[in-house]
Amino acid sequence: MGLRFLKIAVVYLFVGASLGLYMGMVETFTLAPVHAHLVLLGWATLALAGVVYHFYPAAAETKLARIHFWAHNLLLPPLMIALAVFLEGRQDAGPVVGIISIGMLAALGCFAINVLMHAAPSRTA
Ligand code: HEM
Ligand code: HEM
Repeated sequence: MGLRFLKIAVVYLFVGASLGLYMGMVETFTLAPVHAHLVLLGWATLALAGVVYHFYPAAAETKLARIHFWAHNLLLPPLMIALAVFLEGRQDAGPVVGIISIGMLAALGCFAINVLMHAAPSRTA
């Protein structure tokens, strides 16, 4: 599970960094929050979860870890698309961003509860 988090995280890193480079090239920074959340909610958060699960394998085996993985990765792409549409001036995309954000917060809540409940020192350590 840890490796799965890490591998999908580097995809967000590449996509997010590409958007950063594109913004720099066209000198238009409207989509900076999309870039920021692709690299922070995508790369940084998921990679950190992967590393956490590497060090605390018991937490990686739980249903909460799987729910977090799938919810996070099914919600992040539509969240970024809705946010981009909103930032480009479509005010009516606001509620969509809000609703998906609540789902994302719930996914992060699963991760937090999982770490609090199941991250424990391994028996061999
Ligand atoms: C090739 C790699 C990258 C490029 C070309 C790039 C480019 C940019 C650009 C052009 C901006 C907009 C700056 C502005 O609005 O004035 C920006 C903002 C930002 N970048 Fe990147 N970036 C890269 C990688 C990363 C990575 C790896 C992270 C974090 C792990 C990151 C985090 C952020 C954040 C948080 C902001 C928003 C800052 C703010 O709004 O004040 N970037 N980036
Ligand atoms: C459910 C999850 C999240 C939601 C709904 C959310 C929402 C937001 C909102 C509404 C803003 C203000 C954007 C603006 O000023 O245009 C923001 C900015 C920011 N958030 Fe998040 N955020 C989330 C998760 C995170 C996480 C996990 C990180 C870091 C690991 C993060 C890092 C940042 C940073 C650095 C900024 C400032 C960047 C900028 O101005 O473009 N966010 N976020």
